[in-house]
Amino acid sequence: MNILVTGGAGYIGSHTCLELLNVGHEIVVIDNLSNGNFEALKRISELTKKDFRFYQEDLLDKTTLEKIFSENNIDAVIHFAGLKSVDESIKIPLHYYHNNITGTLVLCQTMKKYDVKKMIFSSSANVYGVPKNVPITEDSPLAPINPYGRTKLIIEEILRDLYVSDNSWGIVLLRYFNPIGAHESGRIGEDPSDIPNNLMPYITQVAVGKRDKLKVFGKDYNTHDGTGVRDYIHVVDLAKGHLKALEMVTSTTGIDAFNLGTGIGYSVLDLIKNYENTTSQKIPYTLTHRRPGDIDKCYADVNKANKKLGWKATKNLEDMCKDSWRWQKNNPNGYEG
Ligand code: NAD
Ligand code: UFG
Repeated sequence: MNILVTGGAGYIGSHTCLELLNVGHEIVVIDNLSNGNFEALKRISELTKKDFRFYQEDLLDKTTLEKIFSENNIDAVIHFAGLKSVDESIKIPLHYYHNNITGTLVLCQTMKKYDVKKMIFSSSANVYGVPKNVPITEDSPLAPINPYGRTKLIIEEILRDLYVSDNSWGIVLLRYFNPIGAHESGRIGEDPSDIPNNLMPYITQVAVGKRDKLKVFGKDYNTHDGTGVRDYIHVVDLAKGHLKALEMVTSTTGIDAFNLGTGIGYSVLDLIKNYENTTSQKIPYTLTHRRPGDIDKCYADVNKANKKLGWKATKNLEDMCKDSWRWQKNNPNGYEG
């Protein structure tokens, strides 16, 4: 199949492009490189020994998008492109709503025009807001607490309305938990353009000597050691979840949401300890105040993805730490190096 991957030069998109090519799909990538990297695409070609078309273009540009659909025989779309920083979304909400929501609207309008009705959308565990219970099932209340999460929920709702209007669409909403890790080649990985907001990229930058010390946000959460608990999932497992979702959207019609996580919650201190043991790197840290907007515990009930998608994460926390470190050690300055 020929898959259009929006945001394919980003962290999760690049790992998914690699898996798609490895199982014999053809891909076309659109990315404006606002947070992605051309070097990631070069490395995907190098690893798979396959070429593909890349359009350095913006999803908001309808004319360009139409050109892409008219030049390529697209069968399905995997839609990663979007802005993803919770903090930034609070500071510049209109930019987030415009980029994420308008971008998706333009994409869907173009798909409709070219009769492409198969889509996988990158949603987020952020749509659950502050969960009442863990593990979180897909039918838990949806109540995001920041503009970023609201863009994801609004897009989910737009896609549901689209399906109601035309039952020939096949759409899968994937709610990712906390993706970390990197491809085991150490050639592609996460490359934050600024000081990392997320835990694992911060840890790896401390390990490689780019930052002095990790700040652990909060020590009085209602968890086994007082630090926040999350469901970390290896990015390659996550990428493989998209192959399963692709099988579903191409063989059926409908719209459904799936949690992609491991179902296991680890605390910040668990992750630090595991990282230190696996990589033999010392991670100096200080326990400090809570980060506004953070929650105690967030981990997935993954039964639905297991049963209906036939997908299960296979990599453990050691794999995630080992692969994150290999990527950072081999690329201390990310793709720039
Ligand atoms: P990323 O920033 O690495 O990748 C997103 C890509 O989209 C970037 O390469 C960026 O340049 C591109 N992009 C953004 N706006 C665009 C536009 N208007 N036109 C064209 N390209 C555009 O992020 P990621 O971690 O790979 O995340 C991929 C998707 O998964 C995002 O939608 C994100 O919200 C979602 N998600 C990520 C996480 C996470 O922790 N990484 C968790 C849950 C959901
Ligand atoms: N943390 C620290 N120090 C840091 C960074 C994070 O202690 O320097 C802690 C946080 O307080 C939290 C845990 O590490 O307890 C994980 O934080 P991340 O920032 O890595 O991840 P979040 O769970 O806050 O959010 C991430 C993405 C969201 C996404 C969500 C669920 O940033 O976009 O996972 O998928 F929605």
